[in-house]
Amino acid sequence: MKTLNRRQAMLFGLGGLSAVTLPALHLNRASAQGAHDMHNMAPAASAAPAGVKLPHPALLQPDNSGLVKLKIAKGRHSFQAGSSAASAGINGNYFGPVLRLQNKSHVRFAIENAVDEVTTLHWHGLMIPSDMDGGPHNVINAGATWQPEFDINQPASFNWFHPHTHMETARQAHMGAAGMLHVSDGGDRERGLPDTFGIDDLFLVFQDRRVIDGDNVYAPDFMDLMHGFRGQYLTVNGAIAPVATVPQSIVRLRLLNASNSRNYHFHFSDGRMMHAIASDGGFLAKPAAVDILTIAPGERYEVLVDFSNGMAADFTSLPDDGSGRTPKLGDAQSLEHLMRFEVSDGLKADVMKLVSALEEPAAADPAKSAKTRSFVFDENMAGNMAMMRKKMMGGESSPMGQMGQMDHSKMDHSQMGQMQMPQPSKMQEMMAGEMDHGEHSARSADQMGPSLTAATSGITMSIADKPFDMSRVDVEAKLGSMEIWKLKSVEMGHPFHIHGANFRVLSKNGQAAPDYQAGWKDTVLVDGEAELLVHFKAEGKRSHPFMFHCHVLEHEDVGMMGQFVTV
Ligand code: C2O
Ligand code: CU
Ligand code: CU
Repeated sequence: MKTLNRRQAMLFGLGGLSAVTLPALHLNRASAQGAHDMHNMAPAASAAPAGVKLPHPALLQPDNSGLVKLKIAKGRHSFQAGSSAASAGINGNYFGPVLRLQNKSHVRFAIENAVDEVTTLHWHGLMIPSDMDGGPHNVINAGATWQPEFDINQPASFNWFHPHTHMETARQAHMGAAGMLHVSDGGDRERGLPDTFGIDDLFLVFQDRRVIDGDNVYAPDFMDLMHGFRGQYLTVNGAIAPVATVPQSIVRLRLLNASNSRNYHFHFSDGRMMHAIASDGGFLAKPAAVDILTIAPGERYEVLVDFSNGMAADFTSLPDDGSGRTPKLGDAQSLEHLMRFEVSDGLKADVMKLVSALEEPAAADPAKSAKTRSFVFDENMAGNMAMMRKKMMGGESSPMGQMGQMDHSKMDHSQMGQMQMPQPSKMQEMMAGEMDHGEHSARSADQMGPSLTAATSGITMSIADKPFDMSRVDVEAKLGSMEIWKLKSVEMGHPFHIHGANFRVLSKNGQAAPDYQAGWKDTVLVDGEAELLVHFKAEGKRSHPFMFHCHVLEHEDVGMMGQFVTV
């Protein structure tokens, strides 16, 4: 029996909706040496065969005229042998290529929307003018082609691109209409870093999924919109428990968390260190050794891992409770298996020793701040609960009303029982009480309430005092200036992200952030209080304001987002 604090109870304890299922694959730390055998030990939810080879996305570069062609389309993807799920992809069926752009180059795009709905494409991490960015104001209609062009002018860094459609971001991104983006300055050889694409420089995208068969892949219920959608299948580059073969050398992993709401707490089950060399905005001053690396949705890290001893290793995550805190390793800690690395001496070993220093980002100097602002991640928990309880009582526009329009033959009516909101007294009891939820944090499809959309749910959240409004500008900041932004989360951890700007983490809950968060970033998990020094680097035009928001995509869709322009 494990006691949950009030916050955890809030996260997972809301009535019969809190049923949870085992993450697809669990390892026990005590038996980590035999861990590769345990790939076969998948519980009923997943019959993952061991050893599917890690799929690696293709490299895409502009053609000789500087043009990049992207096509956003729907498809089907197999997450494991026998699975076939509706998906979306860019230049493919699920997810996209790794787009490599050279710093100081000019790039033009032809982005074709071949899905039968409006979408957008946001360059997460690029410092470009807002009218060239694909925020919610820059829609690509079905069948249309969008042709932005811009200069790349920023440090070498690992970024990504994904839809940012008004109230539809979560679904579209979850389906896979996204890709990784590498801004290169061609200097990695001289830096002594591994840079052989797909061999000792691996691009890894992590997404959790609830449904890996059929068409109903993303059907969030009330709880999902409140806490973020999570799935029990943990995928890497679209595969469950893949195996990568790496050279007997230092290997660079570029890690992107493209999940809607799940945080990962990366950890090698044999205890070997990751050496963080870069975060969202570019290189750190020097490698930071880290045993458990927490990465929130939207965030990126680059790490070096030493495979020179030839030993295979299992890459895992500690379970995530949504609090935003990095868990501690316990004796019988259960690790969630992500993927395995095997070492082959048939692959050319290039880099044999860890770099000792990288680029020195200019010291974060809070005295440079022109202004201080404060923001609170407001889940509007009580208001949303009351709204939902009221809707339960009936009414045409209620979720129950919507269910009338759904295909009843496909519906499990026992779910309706789960949808009933608990009585206030019962809720208080649960929030204060003891629950045995263990570390489980995902529900499977058969444990769901009726599905809702951000637009029809009536749920509202905010970060700028009021829920997101496309016609309201919340902040005007001076282009090129720096500001201190004080962020506060109350009930759960929220990943803060800002467009067209980078920041340094000055403090988290009054203390210095971990070393691997010491560089320039655009996304950071806020658990309690965080102080950032934000540098407004790109022009935010009034016609296309930039966004700042929670990168739990369900929260973004229900309004935990604000807009800013530069002046
Ligand atoms: Cu990755 Cu505004 O998003
Ligand atoms: Cu972004
Ligand atoms: Cu959030």
